Amino acid sequence: MQLEQCAVPQPAPVWADDAARFYLEGIEQSNYAERVGGLLHSLLADTDSLLDVGAGGGTLPASFLSRSAAWTAVEPNAFLADALQDLGSREGFRLQVLRAVWQQLGELSLQPHDTVLAASMCGPLEQPEVFWKYLAPLCKRRMVWSVPAQRGPRQACLSGALPAALHGEDETPAVELILKRLPSSLQPHAVHVADWTFSYRFADFSAADSWFQQRFNPACRVSTGVALRAHLEQVAVNDGPAVIIHAPKRSACLVWDFQ
Ligand SMILES: C[S@@+](CC[C@H](N)C(=O)[O-])C[C@H]1O[C@@H](n2cnc3c(N)ncnc32)[C@H](O)[C@@H]1O
Repeated sequence: MQLEQCAVPQPAPVWADDAARFYLEGIEQSNYAERVGGLLHSLLADTDSLLDVGAGGGTLPASFLSRSAAWTAVEPNAFLADALQDLGSREGFRLQVLRAVWQQLGELSLQPHDTVLAASMCGPLEQPEVFWKYLAPLCKRRMVWSVPAQRGPRQACLSGALPAALHGEDETPAVELILKRLPSSLQPHAVHVADWTFSYRFADFSAADSWFQQRFNPACRVSTGVALRAHLEQVAVNDGPAVIIHAPKRSACLVWDFQ
Protein backbone atom coordinates (compact mmCIF):
# COMPACT_ATOMS: atom_id res chain seq x y z
CA MET A 1 0.00 0.00 0.00
CA GLN A 2 1.52 3.36 -1.06
CA LEU A 3 0.99 6.45 1.08
CA GLU A 4 0.17 8.44 -2.07
CA GLN A 5 -3.02 6.40 -2.45
CA CYS A 6 -4.38 7.58 0.91
CA ALA A 7 -6.70 10.47 1.54
CA VAL A 8 -4.91 13.60 2.81
CA PRO A 9 -5.03 13.49 6.61
CA GLN A 10 -6.52 16.26 8.72
CA PRO A 11 -4.14 18.83 10.29
CA ALA A 12 -2.70 17.49 13.53
CA PRO A 13 -3.57 19.03 16.89
CA VAL A 14 -0.70 18.55 19.33
CA TRP A 15 -1.05 18.42 23.11
CA ALA A 16 -0.11 21.45 25.22
CA ASP A 17 2.73 20.81 27.71
CA ASP A 18 0.52 21.15 30.81
CA ALA A 19 -1.87 18.44 29.49
CA ALA A 20 1.14 16.28 28.63
CA ARG A 21 2.65 16.71 32.11
CA PHE A 22 -0.69 15.85 33.77
CA TYR A 23 -1.01 12.73 31.60
CA LEU A 24 2.50 11.50 32.34
CA GLU A 25 2.23 12.13 36.10
CA GLY A 26 -1.10 10.28 36.21
CA ILE A 27 -0.18 7.37 33.98
CA GLU A 28 2.90 6.72 36.14
CA GLN A 29 0.68 6.58 39.26
CA SER A 30 -1.76 4.22 37.53
CA ASN A 31 -1.68 0.46 36.85
CA TYR A 32 -1.49 1.09 33.07
CA ALA A 33 2.01 -0.37 32.62
CA GLU A 34 1.09 -3.42 34.68
CA ARG A 35 -2.27 -4.16 32.98
CA VAL A 36 -1.92 -2.92 29.38
CA GLY A 37 1.87 -3.39 29.36
CA GLY A 38 1.29 -6.94 30.64
CA LEU A 39 -1.04 -7.68 27.75
CA LEU A 40 1.41 -6.13 25.26
CA HIS A 41 4.19 -8.21 26.77
CA SER A 42 2.28 -11.33 25.74
CA LEU A 43 1.78 -9.93 22.23
CA LEU A 44 5.03 -8.09 21.47
CA ALA A 45 7.78 -9.20 23.87
CA ASP A 46 9.77 -10.94 21.11
CA THR A 47 9.95 -7.85 18.90
CA ASP A 48 13.39 -6.78 17.69
CA SER A 49 12.36 -3.40 16.27
CA LEU A 50 9.39 -1.31 17.38
CA LEU A 51 7.84 1.76 15.77
CA ASP A 52 5.82 3.47 18.54
CA VAL A 53 3.49 6.15 17.18
CA GLY A 54 2.21 8.80 19.63
CA ALA A 55 4.68 7.39 22.13
CA GLY A 56 4.02 9.76 25.05
CA GLY A 57 6.49 9.11 27.86
CA GLY A 58 7.18 5.56 26.66
CA THR A 59 5.35 3.94 29.59
CA LEU A 60 4.22 0.82 27.72
CA PRO A 61 7.33 -0.21 25.71
CA ALA A 62 9.46 0.46 28.81
CA SER A 63 7.42 -2.29 30.51
CA PHE A 64 7.84 -5.01 27.86
CA LEU A 65 10.53 -4.17 25.30
CA SER A 66 13.91 -5.90 25.40
CA ARG A 67 16.93 -3.56 25.85
CA SER A 68 18.41 -5.12 22.69
CA ALA A 69 15.43 -4.10 20.50
CA ALA A 70 15.50 -0.94 18.38
CA TRP A 71 12.72 1.46 19.51
CA THR A 72 11.70 4.31 17.20
CA ALA A 73 9.28 6.67 18.95
CA VAL A 74 7.22 9.29 17.10
CA GLU A 75 6.11 11.98 19.57
CA PRO A 76 5.21 15.60 18.70
CA ASN A 77 4.89 17.05 22.21
CA ALA A 78 8.18 18.58 23.43
CA PHE A 79 7.64 17.79 27.13
CA LEU A 80 6.90 14.12 26.42
CA ALA A 81 9.64 13.77 23.80
CA ASP A 82 12.17 15.12 26.36
CA ALA A 83 10.83 12.76 29.07
CA LEU A 84 11.08 9.86 26.64
CA GLN A 85 14.63 10.75 25.67
CA ASP A 86 15.57 10.86 29.39
CA LEU A 87 13.90 7.48 29.98
CA GLY A 88 15.80 5.95 27.05
CA SER A 89 19.18 7.17 28.35
CA ARG A 90 18.45 6.30 31.97
CA GLU A 91 17.15 2.79 31.25
CA GLY A 92 19.56 1.90 28.46
CA PHE A 93 17.06 1.48 25.60
CA ARG A 94 18.16 1.65 21.93
CA LEU A 95 15.74 4.55 21.45
CA GLN A 96 15.41 7.13 18.68
CA VAL A 97 12.85 9.90 19.31
CA LEU A 98 11.35 11.59 16.26
CA ARG A 99 9.55 14.85 17.07
CA ALA A 100 6.79 14.53 14.49
CA VAL A 101 3.10 13.73 14.03
CA TRP A 102 1.85 10.54 12.40
CA GLN A 103 0.65 12.62 9.44
CA GLN A 104 4.37 13.19 8.68
CA LEU A 105 5.28 9.47 8.66
CA GLY A 106 5.61 9.49 4.88
CA GLU A 107 8.28 12.23 5.08
CA LEU A 108 10.49 10.53 7.67
CA SER A 109 12.12 7.93 5.37
CA LEU A 110 11.53 5.16 7.93
CA GLN A 111 12.39 1.54 7.16
CA PRO A 112 9.69 -1.00 8.06
CA HIS A 113 9.92 -2.20 11.67
CA ASP A 114 9.19 -5.67 13.01
CA THR A 115 6.23 -4.34 14.99
CA VAL A 116 4.22 -1.12 15.10
CA LEU A 117 2.37 0.16 18.17
CA ALA A 118 -0.12 3.02 18.54
CA ALA A 119 -1.37 3.19 22.13
CA SER A 120 -4.09 5.49 23.46
CA MET A 121 -3.66 8.05 20.72
CA CYS A 122 -6.04 9.97 18.50
CA GLY A 123 -5.31 8.53 15.00
CA PRO A 124 -7.36 5.31 15.30
CA LEU A 125 -10.56 7.09 16.30
CA GLU A 126 -10.25 10.21 14.17
CA GLN A 127 -9.15 8.67 10.85
CA PRO A 128 -8.85 4.90 11.27
CA GLU A 129 -8.55 3.96 7.60
CA VAL A 130 -6.00 6.66 6.73
CA PHE A 131 -4.10 5.91 9.93
CA TRP A 132 -4.00 2.18 9.07
CA LYS A 133 -2.71 2.98 5.57
CA TYR A 134 0.05 5.22 6.94
CA LEU A 135 1.20 2.66 9.53
CA ALA A 136 0.81 -0.73 7.83
CA PRO A 137 3.55 -0.21 5.17
CA LEU A 138 5.97 0.45 8.04
CA CYS A 139 5.21 -2.89 9.69
CA LYS A 140 6.82 -6.23 8.80
CA ARG A 141 5.16 -8.61 11.27
CA ARG A 142 2.57 -7.36 13.76
CA MET A 143 0.72 -4.07 14.31
CA VAL A 144 -1.17 -3.30 17.53
CA TRP A 145 -3.45 -0.37 18.29
CA SER A 146 -4.46 -0.05 21.94
CA VAL A 147 -7.72 1.92 21.98
CA PRO A 148 -10.29 2.96 24.65
CA ALA A 149 -12.92 0.28 25.14
CA GLN A 150 -14.73 1.34 28.33
CA ARG A 151 -18.40 2.30 28.04
CA GLY A 152 -17.94 5.83 29.31
CA PRO A 153 -16.17 9.07 28.45
CA ARG A 154 -12.72 9.08 26.83
CA GLN A 155 -11.66 12.72 26.22
CA ALA A 156 -10.05 13.58 29.55
CA CYS A 157 -8.00 11.17 31.64
CA LEU A 158 -10.26 11.62 34.67
CA SER A 159 -13.65 12.18 33.05
CA GLY A 160 -14.55 8.57 33.89
CA ALA A 161 -14.67 9.58 37.56
CA LEU A 162 -17.81 11.61 36.77
CA PRO A 163 -21.41 10.69 35.89
CA ALA A 164 -22.66 11.51 32.37
CA ALA A 165 -24.51 14.62 33.59
CA LEU A 166 -21.16 16.13 34.62
CA HIS A 167 -18.75 14.92 31.91
CA GLY A 168 -21.21 15.52 29.04
CA GLU A 169 -19.59 13.07 26.59
CA ASP A 170 -20.87 10.35 24.32
CA GLU A 171 -20.26 7.06 26.19
CA THR A 172 -19.99 4.71 23.19
CA PRO A 173 -16.80 2.66 23.56
CA ALA A 174 -14.24 4.05 21.09
CA VAL A 175 -13.37 0.53 19.95
CA GLU A 176 -16.93 0.09 18.59
CA LEU A 177 -16.65 3.29 16.54
CA ILE A 178 -13.18 2.37 15.25
CA LEU A 179 -14.22 -1.13 14.13
CA LYS A 180 -17.33 0.30 12.46
CA ARG A 181 -15.27 2.92 10.61
CA LEU A 182 -12.68 0.43 9.32
CA PRO A 183 -13.63 -1.34 6.07
CA SER A 184 -14.07 -5.11 6.28
CA SER A 185 -10.74 -5.68 4.48
CA LEU A 186 -8.89 -3.85 7.28
CA GLN A 187 -10.54 -5.45 10.31
CA PRO A 188 -8.03 -6.68 12.94
CA HIS A 189 -7.11 -10.36 13.12
CA ALA A 190 -7.55 -10.46 16.92
CA VAL A 191 -8.78 -8.23 19.75
CA HIS A 192 -7.58 -8.52 23.37
CA VAL A 193 -8.88 -6.53 26.33
CA ALA A 194 -7.29 -5.21 29.54
CA ASP A 195 -9.01 -3.36 32.40
CA TRP A 196 -7.08 -0.70 34.30
CA THR A 197 -7.59 2.49 36.30
CA PHE A 198 -6.29 6.01 35.63
CA SER A 199 -5.36 7.43 39.04
CA TYR A 200 -4.17 10.94 39.91
CA ARG A 201 -3.00 12.18 43.28
CA PHE A 202 -3.80 15.85 44.02
CA ALA A 203 -2.06 17.73 46.86
CA ASP A 204 -5.42 18.23 48.63
CA PHE A 205 -9.18 18.33 47.97
CA SER A 206 -9.05 21.97 46.92
CA ALA A 207 -6.49 21.20 44.18
CA ALA A 208 -8.67 18.36 42.90
CA ASP A 209 -11.80 20.53 42.95
CA SER A 210 -10.00 23.34 41.16
CA TRP A 211 -8.73 20.96 38.40
CA PHE A 212 -12.22 19.52 37.83
CA GLN A 213 -13.89 22.95 37.89
CA GLN A 214 -11.49 24.27 35.22
CA ARG A 215 -11.89 21.20 33.03
CA PHE A 216 -15.62 20.47 33.42
CA ASN A 217 -17.12 23.82 34.42
CA PRO A 218 -15.26 26.41 32.33
CA ALA A 219 -18.29 28.75 32.31
CA CYS A 220 -18.23 28.74 36.16
CA ARG A 221 -21.93 27.83 36.48
CA VAL A 222 -22.85 27.80 40.16
CA SER A 223 -25.11 24.73 40.00
CA THR A 224 -22.52 22.71 38.03
CA GLY A 225 -19.79 23.77 40.43
CA VAL A 226 -21.81 22.63 43.43
CA ALA A 227 -22.69 19.30 41.79
CA LEU A 228 -19.05 18.68 40.78
CA ARG A 229 -17.78 19.39 44.30
CA ALA A 230 -20.44 17.15 45.88
CA HIS A 231 -19.54 14.30 43.51
CA LEU A 232 -15.82 14.69 44.18
CA GLU A 233 -16.45 14.55 47.92
CA GLN A 234 -18.03 11.13 47.34
CA VAL A 235 -15.33 9.64 45.09
CA ALA A 236 -12.10 11.24 46.37
CA VAL A 237 -9.90 8.79 48.27
CA ASN A 238 -8.11 10.52 51.15
CA ASP A 239 -4.43 9.85 51.69
CA GLY A 240 -3.35 12.26 54.42
CA PRO A 241 -3.87 15.77 53.06
CA ALA A 242 -3.67 14.38 49.50
CA VAL A 243 -6.66 13.00 47.59
CA ILE A 244 -6.58 10.41 44.82
CA ILE A 245 -9.20 10.32 42.08
CA HIS A 246 -9.67 7.12 40.10
CA ALA A 247 -11.27 6.66 36.66
CA PRO A 248 -11.99 3.12 35.38
CA LYS A 249 -10.61 2.31 31.90
CA ARG A 250 -10.60 -0.58 29.50
CA SER A 251 -8.16 -0.85 26.58
CA ALA A 252 -8.75 -3.05 23.56
CA CYS A 253 -5.62 -4.14 21.70
CA LEU A 254 -6.43 -4.56 17.99
CA VAL A 255 -3.88 -6.87 16.36
CA TRP A 256 -2.94 -7.27 12.69
CA ASP A 257 -0.49 -9.99 11.65
CA PHE A 258 1.32 -9.49 8.36
CA GLN A 259 3.25 -12.78 8.25
C1 LIG B 1 -2.87 9.57 25.61
S1 LIG B 1 -1.22 9.85 25.08
C2 LIG B 1 -0.64 8.17 24.87
C3 LIG B 1 0.85 8.10 24.98
C4 LIG B 1 1.43 6.68 24.99
N1 LIG B 1 1.24 6.00 23.73
C5 LIG B 1 0.83 5.85 26.10
O1 LIG B 1 0.21 4.82 25.83
O2 LIG B 1 1.02 6.25 27.27
C6 LIG B 1 -1.47 10.39 23.38
C7 LIG B 1 -0.16 10.75 22.72
O3 LIG B 1 -0.37 11.03 21.34
C8 LIG B 1 0.43 12.14 20.99
N2 LIG B 1 -0.15 12.74 19.78
C9 LIG B 1 -1.18 13.64 19.69
N3 LIG B 1 -1.41 13.94 18.39
C10 LIG B 1 -0.53 13.20 17.66
C11 LIG B 1 -0.27 13.06 16.27
N4 LIG B 1 -0.99 13.73 15.37
N5 LIG B 1 0.73 12.23 15.89
C12 LIG B 1 1.46 11.54 16.80
N6 LIG B 1 1.25 11.63 18.13
C13 LIG B 1 0.27 12.45 18.56
C14 LIG B 1 0.38 13.03 22.21
O4 LIG B 1 1.41 14.00 22.21
C15 LIG B 1 0.50 11.99 23.30
O5 LIG B 1 1.83 11.68 23.57
